[in-house]
Amino acid sequence: MSMSLSKDDAVPASKREYHRKPLDKNSIENIVRPFILSDDDYKEIMQRMRQKFDDGLGKETNPTASVKMFTTYVRGVPNGSENGEFLALDLGGTNFRVLLISLDGQEVKMESKIFLIPQQIMLGSGVQLFDHIAECIFKFMKEHNIIHKNIPLGFTFSFPCKQLGLNKAILAHWTKGFKCEGVEGEDIVRLLHEAIERRGDIKVECLAVINDTVGALMSCAHSDRKCAVGLILGTGTNACYIERIDNVELWDGDDDEPREVMINTEWGAFGDDGALDFIKTDYDKKVDKTSINAGKQTYEKMISGMYMGEIVRLLLEKLRKGGHLFGGKGSEELSTRGRFYTKYVSEIERDMRDRLTGDVDEHFKNTKQVFDELNLEKYTDEDCRITQYVCSLISTRAAYLAAAGIGCILNKMQRPDVTVAVDGSLYRFHPHFHDLMVEKLNQLVEPGIKFKLMLSHDGSGKGAAIVTAVAHRLRQSKSNSQLDELADAMQKQELEGH
Ligand code: GLC
Repeated sequence: MSMSLSKDDAVPASKREYHRKPLDKNSIENIVRPFILSDDDYKEIMQRMRQKFDDGLGKETNPTASVKMFTTYVRGVPNGSENGEFLALDLGGTNFRVLLISLDGQEVKMESKIFLIPQQIMLGSGVQLFDHIAECIFKFMKEHNIIHKNIPLGFTFSFPCKQLGLNKAILAHWTKGFKCEGVEGEDIVRLLHEAIERRGDIKVECLAVINDTVGALMSCAHSDRKCAVGLILGTGTNACYIERIDNVELWDGDDDEPREVMINTEWGAFGDDGALDFIKTDYDKKVDKTSINAGKQTYEKMISGMYMGEIVRLLLEKLRKGGHLFGGKGSEELSTRGRFYTKYVSEIERDMRDRLTGDVDEHFKNTKQVFDELNLEKYTDEDCRITQYVCSLISTRAAYLAAAGIGCILNKMQRPDVTVAVDGSLYRFHPHFHDLMVEKLNQLVEPGIKFKLMLSHDGSGKGAAIVTAVAHRLRQSKSNSQLDELADAMQKQELEGH
């Protein structure tokens, strides 16, 4: 089922409340209640997050901080003059992609291809992973007839990395669905270059590594100068923002203007030290326990697409076993971990909008289709209603939690008017996520601070190309200045010789 998000046709919050009114069955209400958080809870979450941000930025506190606040080497936003042809890799979201991007001022041309990363590679060895990536680059270059060209490459690598330079990124640990041996603690650019050398049939040099949040910010800033925050709501969740260097105690780079640098917060790890225990439900605990990184990425597991469907499934199963759903009779699919996809949540909630627009015949269409896909044999309209309610509670909590995070960043930055670049499958396809976030942000952001959430297009490709273009230009001007120095020295020698 294809879906697209249009901000104009979203349902006003007042109407959506209709679906969130408590069902009159007390026992159901008791089961779902832990997912309904109060305004005070969200304010408390913001305060705690602010403390964790400060810990991450502090020299003494960083080593033990749960939210790492990684310094990137990206300091300026693009000025629109970037140009050239670049390759980009995008690893860490729903798909792995190789892209060819040509930049010419504001004009951006892009071709890309999605490659599959089989599960056994995602959980295999690092050598296997990077050999696979190098093979995909080779295939892509062959298809585009650029195999003999030497094109600079930017790598959007969407995992927590300690950057030691623009093209030196040490993976702190894997997140989401990846767990390849021998990569944590290593420079991923070195691993990529080694894999390329092992093949020996392509000449590609990686000039920059960026996080997908930075890509989203850069891509949006290319046309909107107010853009200062990048947010991903997809398989995982994370945010980056522009911070004043004075606030970054660990900064060891140049002191020149602009005295600002992008910080990759890695906020997905918020709560790993217990800071979110006060809102954690039994379902969150179960999702964590059965994940490949138990105890890690607490906040991410409450929000992002990799986990949302599973939280809903666990809750539906609880209701079914209690006899509140499907007459107590489920299906093998509904009992299977991971089988209730997050896209189902978006599809089911889309029905709720259709129902409000008066399309009565359609009002359970998607919900029933999901039930059919799950091989549920008997269901009633009430089952549809309850399932919709459950979905809306889980996605509302996720959207409000994400809003608390963005609110915290906006209040910290104290800029009067900020555009937040947002990307990711959850934000794109969920019919109400944007509106829910805006509604909550309006309550949480300090008066006088204006904000806008803007869908960022293809940040992982375009953003990587922009950063690579800057790195390329710097390198050329550096080698030019080295040439100048050489010429100066030679001239001097000649003069001395005479
Ligand atoms: C995970 C990664 C982070 C990334 C986010 C969104 O949280 O650790 O680096 O930005 O997912 O893809």
